[in-house]
This record gives sequence, structure tokens and C-alpha cells, in this order.
Amino acid sequence: MALRVYRNYDALSHAAAAEIVLQIKQNPISVLCLAAGETPRLTYNLLPEIADKEGVDFSRCRFVGLDEWLGIPDTNEGSCAWFLRENLFAPLNIAPRQINLFDGMTKDPAEECRRMSRRIVDCGGIDLMLVGIGLNGHIGFNEPGVSEDAHVHVTELDETTRSVGQKYFREATVLQRGITLGLRHLLESRKAFMMAAGAKKAGIIRLALEGSITTKVPASILRKHACGDVLLDSEAASMLTVI
Ligand code: PGA
Repeated sequence: MALRVYRNYDALSHAAAAEIVLQIKQNPISVLCLAAGETPRLTYNLLPEIADKEGVDFSRCRFVGLDEWLGIPDTNEGSCAWFLRENLFAPLNIAPRQINLFDGMTKDPAEECRRMSRRIVDCGGIDLMLVGIGLNGHIGFNEPGVSEDAHVHVTELDETTRSVGQKYFREATVLQRGITLGLRHLLESRKAFMMAAGAKKAGIIRLALEGSITTKVPASILRKHACGDVLLDSEAASMLTVI
């Protein structure tokens, strides 16, 4: 695992966007799994301009969803699907056939898990994952205590996830369950980046990177990834002893 620290959120976001563009340059038919959330927002907003400058074309790559709130439709601004549509797919002109997201309104979550698992196998696995980290150490909705061998699964959301998740919604919303790719997908991806920004993430970043490798802090599992890098701004890195 390589650790890269940038002076601020802006520099961090430029670096992450450059990594995505590089990935597509090297392999235009890449399968990407890019997280929703506040952290990667600027990264995605920077992508069209950087891609344009580099002459990179996103028309042949494919996207798979990382996670979704169960019971929340994609018309809700707090859904991961909404976020990705607004910040990533629309600005890059990604065609619907390139996109595979979770249906948060599925009547059959177990089948939805199987559908996404099959989809990932069918497209040859994930080339690049870009994930954030929750205040409880989660990646996607891999909540503390999740199995390291989990593939796609439905999960009861941790109390922290339920309350912190309110920030994505216009009004108070009941968040109970989520559907998510598992830590096994993270470990099986050919390349993975975890991003974190801001002082509020400093404590959990220290635990994930310098504490023991344990599914009690799911993000710590990234340290087992042969090609898993951590990209931080200086505030998120401020409690690390190596800095
Ligand atoms: P955030 O979410 O980017 O909105 O902080 C991170 C996460 O919960 O995975």
C-alpha cells in the first residue's frame, strides 16, 4: 500500500482525477467502480476537463455501482445513483449501456446481489475502485465486523452510517439497510484507491492505517491489497505518526 498526502482537497482531487484518466488511457475498456459521496465530488467535477486535455475517451469503459441505500429510489437526491448521474455520468456523457448500478428499490435484494455479482464476473472483474472511508471505517456499506470474504451483500447499517448519511438528504430519512459490493471485491480489484479529506477523517484514517488490520475497521483491509493506494489531504493525514 502506498500512502500519498496532498496539501489540500484541491490537490488531492486533481491527483485522483488524473489516476482515473490514466486508467482509461491505459485501458479504454476498463471496468470502474467509483464511489458516491462528498469526498470524490471534486474529483468527478474535474474529470471532463482533464479527460479533454489528455484526449481520453470514456465511451468504451464500464461502470459498476459500489453501494446504494435500500428503499431509496434513484430519483431521490440522496441516492448514490443520483449523485453519480449528476456528478459523473452526465458530465462525461456516459451512455446507459455503460452503467450498472444497484436498484435501491428492488423487491428482491438477494437477487439484486446475484445480478450484480454476475455482472462483475461477466465483465471480467473490476479494474479500478475508488472508495471513500466512513467515520466508522466503512468502505461502501461494508460496516464494522463485516466478513473479509463478503462479495455483494445486504447489510443493516451501522448507527454512525445512519446518522452521518443524513447529510446527503434534503429531509430526515430513515436509513436502515444498504446493498454493497464486499471487501472481497475490493481485494480482487486490479487497482484500488481510497481517498479521505478533512480533519474529521483524521482519527479513523489513523486507525485504518496504523491500527491492526481487522474487519472491525473495514478500511484497514485495504492494506492487504497489492495495488491499493491511500490518497489523503494534509488534514486527513494529520494524526498519522509517519507524517
Ligand atoms: P463521504 O463518505 O465521502 O461523504 O465522507 C465516505 C463514506 O462514507 O464512505
